[in-house]
Amino acid sequence: MARILITGASGLLGINLAMEAMRDHGIIGVDRGKLKSAPFPVIKANFYDRHVFIPALDNFRPDWVINCAALTNLEECEKHPGQAKILNINLARDLAEDCMKRKIKLIHLSTDAVFDGTKQGAYTEEDEPNPQNIYAQTKLAGEQAVRDAYPQAIIARVNFFGWSMSGRRSLAEFFFNNLSEGRNVNGFTDVIFCPMWVTDLSRILIRMLENNLSGLYHVVGSQAIDKYRFGLEVARRFGLREDLILPLSVEDSDLTARRSHNLWMSVHKLSTDLGCEIPDFSTGLDGFYTQFQQGYPQKIRSYQQ
Ligand SMILES: NC(=O)c1ccc[n+]([C@@H]2O[C@H](COP(=O)([O-])OP(=O)(O)OC[C@H]3O[C@@H](n4cnc5c(N)ncnc54)[C@H](OP(=O)(O)O)[C@@H]3O)[C@@H](O)[C@H]2O)c1
Repeated sequence: MARILITGASGLLGINLAMEAMRDHGIIGVDRGKLKSAPFPVIKANFYDRHVFIPALDNFRPDWVINCAALTNLEECEKHPGQAKILNINLARDLAEDCMKRKIKLIHLSTDAVFDGTKQGAYTEEDEPNPQNIYAQTKLAGEQAVRDAYPQAIIARVNFFGWSMSGRRSLAEFFFNNLSEGRNVNGFTDVIFCPMWVTDLSRILIRMLENNLSGLYHVVGSQAIDKYRFGLEVARRFGLREDLILPLSVEDSDLTARRSHNLWMSVHKLSTDLGCEIPDFSTGLDGFYTQFQQGYPQKIRSYQQ
């Protein structure tokens, strides 16, 4: 049993990772005040204060740290690049330095969006990133800062879906919420990605730590799909109306941050180093649906203030 400190414990990944990891490990979450009655201990900290997590590292003495805290809203990053820099770069660097000094294993979360999406085929860890918006630029700089400070840290480029505390954090929730209310939504036909169910992602991150991996990995679902078709699959799985989803090009949307068209990522390195198949989003969608039937979304929502 390891002691795991999870930053961003109120976020989409943080809360689901904590719920999954606490089956076998000791968890402590770091949160800036949203979590009220989580089934694991929580430290309150705002990462705009530099080195605020040092007492947590020294008092809890975790074996592993998983950094899920970030400024993830692309439009907010465009509006507040200074905040994006503090959370996505400075926090990553400071945490990596502090973990390195204490010999604590670290996973830092990054994004598939570091690529410009112009490649024909799947991106590997060897491909050159070319971020297209402030979020992706700061996430790439965060990767570099972690690599410089702590070369043995794991950097995981991810993309995932699941149930969140707010009920509004993931693309699957976006389709589910709107279609359940009978509302039309746009689905981008020209954005390809490799979504992974957040519980599958959580299990794989833990396995990467158990297997002593280090360095850069693409940790996404093994199947590429466009966002419009992803919406259709969610609708089908939940028995909702597919015709409410309107196919649209992302170029015709009113989003300000530039999006990459092809975020098809190879998971060959991950699959080889872990010695296992990487789950695809179809089986993940079954898990996401089963959680819905079991009242999991209401359960995690009840943990917030
Ligand atoms: N979701 C995806 O598909 C996706 C795709 C690519 C990469 N990623 C990466 O995966 C990681 C987790 O993403 P996510 O979707 O779980 O993000 P999220 O739901 O937006 O969660 C971000 C977490 O960071 C916390 N945070 C933000 N500002 C903070 C501050 N000043 N002090 C302390 N905590 C702060 C948030 O706390 P509050 O709840 O209080 O705001 C929240 O717990 C991130 O590194 C993200 O870049 C996610």
